[in-house]
Amino acid sequence: MTTFVDLTHHLSPETLARGTNPLKDVLRIALENPQLVTLANGDPHPSRFPIRRVDFEVASVSPDDPVSGWASLGDSAPSQVLSTSQDDDLRRLLKSSLQYGHGAGLKDALRVVDDINKTYHNAPNHVATMTLGNADAITKCLRMLGSSGDHFLADEFTFLPMPLAGEAHGIKWVPVTIDAGGIIPDELERILANWNSGRGRRPHVLYITPSGQNPTGSTLDAERRTKIYDIAQRYDLIILEDDPYFFLQYDLSQSGTEMFKPPAPSFLSMDVDGRVIRIDSFSKIMAPGLRLGWITSSPSFRDHLIKFIDLSTQNPAGFAQVLVVALLGPHGDYQRRRDFFAELFEREVASTGLASAYVPAAGMFFWIRVHLEKHPRFGVDAETGSSDGLRVARTNTMELMKELFEVCLSCGLVICPSSIFALRADPRYDDVPSSVDDRSNFVRATFAGSEEAIAAGVPLLGKALKQFFA
Ligand SMILES: Cc1ncc(COP(=O)(O)O)c(C=O)c1O
Repeated sequence: MTTFVDLTHHLSPETLARGTNPLKDVLRIALENPQLVTLANGDPHPSRFPIRRVDFEVASVSPDDPVSGWASLGDSAPSQVLSTSQDDDLRRLLKSSLQYGHGAGLKDALRVVDDINKTYHNAPNHVATMTLGNADAITKCLRMLGSSGDHFLADEFTFLPMPLAGEAHGIKWVPVTIDAGGIIPDELERILANWNSGRGRRPHVLYITPSGQNPTGSTLDAERRTKIYDIAQRYDLIILEDDPYFFLQYDLSQSGTEMFKPPAPSFLSMDVDGRVIRIDSFSKIMAPGLRLGWITSSPSFRDHLIKFIDLSTQNPAGFAQVLVVALLGPHGDYQRRRDFFAELFEREVASTGLASAYVPAAGMFFWIRVHLEKHPRFGVDAETGSSDGLRVARTNTMELMKELFEVCLSCGLVICPSSIFALRADPRYDDVPSSVDDRSNFVRATFAGSEEAIAAGVPLLGKALKQFFA
C-alpha cells in the first residue's frame, strides 16, 4: 500500500491544467480487456505492417567475458541471433510493439525495468514509465514541476542542456557548490536556509546526477546522499535523480558472474515520501539511438507523466522496447578504458605537474584540473570583469582557459572546457559567494570513445599543456 505524502503542491499550473487524451482512455480499456470486441481504435491492420520478423544479432555473452571480447573482435566476435520468428513471445511482442500502445510503454518492457528497480532500488511503492531516454524524461519532469519564475537547484557544473531546456519555460537555476564528491550538502542547506523570499518561492526541485556526474565524473557517497535526502525532506524538495551512469560504476569487488552491487544507495531506495523521481536510460548500457529509458516515481507523479506522454510523444519506439525485452546485456567494457585512460593520463599529463584528475568511480568522464596557478601569466585580482555582471572574477582563469582550448586545437585535440557546463547564478543573489569563472580551470575528457582516440588524445593533452605553460 502506498504511504507517500501528498506532494501535489509541486505540480506546475500546466500540469494541473492538462486533461487526459480521450482516445488513449478508450484505447486503454481495449488494451486492458482483451475479451472485449473493439471497433473504437484507429489502429492500422497488422497485415499492413510491412515487417514480418526482426532478427537482432547480439553479443553472445559468457560469464567470464560479458562484452569486451565481442566489442574488440568486430565481425568475428561470437554472437547470437534473437529472432522473432523463432520465439513465440517475441513474435507476440513484435506484433503489439508495432501497434499504437500504452503511454507507459509495453507491459513486457515495464516488467524488465520493474525487475531492475526491485533488484537495485528496493522501492516497492514506486512505479515505472517508459521514456525516450533521460533527456526526454527530464524535460518532461521539468515541465511537470516547473512554473515560470520557479527556482530549481543543480550542481554548479552540470549537464547543461537540461537546465537550458527548463529555462525556456521560465525556470531559473540556482547553482550549488561542488567538490570531487559532488554537491556539498552544507552548501545546499545554506542556500535553502538563507533563501531570500524576495526572489520568489524557495527552490522546490533539485536536479542531480548521483553517479559519474556529467561533466565532473563525481559520485556521491552514501553519507552525502543521506544528508541530501534529509535536507530534501526538511525543505520539501523534489529530487530529480538523473542516473544514466548507474551501471557504469567501477572498482567494485564483484566478479563477472556476481550481481552488480551499487556502492551507495540510490535516492530512490531511500524515498519514503514519494519525493524522488528517478530517471534511468538504456543509452549508456545499450545504445543512445534506441531512445529508451524509464522514469520511476510515485503513482501520483506517474499519472501526470502519462497524461503528458499521451498528449505528446505517445509510447516509445516499439523496436527498442522489443530489443530490451529480448536482451538485457551487462554493462560494457568501459572500466578497462577508464583504467587505460588513467594510466596514460598519469604518464603523459599528470607527470608534467600541470594538470591532475581523480579517477572517476562511475560514468564516462575525467574532470581534469589545470594547475593554472603555475602559468606565468596567471593573475589574481585581475580586472577581468565577469560574464554575470556582478560577481566579478578575481582571476584571469577564463582567458587562460580559452587560450588553452586554442592551443589544444592547434595540437589536434578537441576537449570540453568546463565553462560550457557552468550554471549561471542569478547575479542579484549571492548563493555562491565567488564567481564560478575562477573555478573554471577544468576540462572534461571522455574515456568512452575508442582506445585509439584515448591513445592519441591523452598525449596530445600533455603536449598542449607543456606548450601552453612554457
Ligand atoms: C547526466 C545526463 N543526463 C541525461 C543525458 C541524456 O541521456 P539520454 O540519451 O538517455 O537522453 C546524458 C547524456 O549524455 C547525461 O550525461
